Amino acid sequence: MAKRLEGKVAVVTGAGRGIGRAEALALAAEGAKVVVNDLGGGADGTGGGTSPADEVVQEIKKLGGEAVANYDSVATPEGGENIIKTAIDNFGRIDIVVNNAGILRDRMVFNMSEEEWDIIMKVHLYGHFHCTKAACVHFRQQRSGRIINTSSIAGLGNMGQANYSAAKEGIIGFTRTVARDMGKYGVTCNAIRPNAGTRLTLSPELKAAWEKAKAQGLPTVGGEALEMLEKATPEMIAPVVVYLATDEASDINGYDFFVGGGEIGVFSQPEVKGRIKKEGVWTVDELMDMMPKKVTVGLVNPAPPQPPKA
Ligand SMILES: NC(=O)c1ccc[n+]([C@@H]2O[C@H](COP(=O)([O-])OP(=O)(O)OC[C@H]3O[C@@H](n4cnc5c(N)ncnc54)[C@H](O)[C@@H]3O)[C@@H](O)[C@H]2O)c1
Repeated sequence: MAKRLEGKVAVVTGAGRGIGRAEALALAAEGAKVVVNDLGGGADGTGGGTSPADEVVQEIKKLGGEAVANYDSVATPEGGENIIKTAIDNFGRIDIVVNNAGILRDRMVFNMSEEEWDIIMKVHLYGHFHCTKAACVHFRQQRSGRIINTSSIAGLGNMGQANYSAAKEGIIGFTRTVARDMGKYGVTCNAIRPNAGTRLTLSPELKAAWEKAKAQGLPTVGGEALEMLEKATPEMIAPVVVYLATDEASDINGYDFFVGGGEIGVFSQPEVKGRIKKEGVWTVDELMDMMPKKVTVGLVNPAPPQPPKA
């Protein structure tokens, strides 16, 4: 195999399991030295442990690669700094940051607690900021770097995930702006919206929720089926992350990609459609007439009202 990332040093957060593990192994297979970060906690962010990160380090070493473990949480600024410092201390540089660590705390918005909201923001949105900021201090000096963020199609709207969708769509805005802050220094920042069977997507509770939603004809993200997720492995995500980390992808900056089960695509950038314009203030009467004709025409309610359950 061509060693496309020979001499580069990568950090992958949440690399002890699932998608992050596959990404760390794929980056190492291309010659990158890898910091395998993982807090080692539960799918809801509780607890911690060293074995997930240690096991992936051992796997990489067994395959002839170089890797070192880090167990910090991405959710604190000190954690982010220490994760990047682990790369500098062990391998002398940092070239690639894959922000991947993530958890779930699903709840309908009317039942969601402050704690459930906050922890999702801390791990996903703040987690992306902490590691990116610490890496960008080096990237700016060396005038090179790759950042690959992890969003989700849940950001497009998914029942019971107000906290997670807000954080994941925030990551898209973050990605677009970091791309603009860092592009002139030869750094790129892109995001993936992956789809893969892991403990987050194939938990017994989620399986039950998927089945229920399907049976009731309710919308599920992207309309994809549970059977498809079972075939979509984390290993199918990793090559796109490797590609975005290569020198060849130096002009791909500020975009978000769907990746899952052999399917790869780039998301369009949102734009204003059905525009109306006048000098001055629209009256509500005018809007009652114009909105349905020009602006809201064709819009579909993703969750139309239903009669109360008997
Ligand atoms: N699996 C999917 O289909 C899917 C879809 C959309 C987005 N994602 C995103 O992909 C990423 C990886 O998810 P996965 O499905 O592989 O889940 P996973 O649970 O298998 O792996 C996530 C890893 O992140 C680690 N982690 C959690 N909080 C951490 C923290 N504060 N600091 C460091 N490590 C931490 C966990 O210990 C775990 O090993 C997440 O950001 C998730 O939201 C996954």
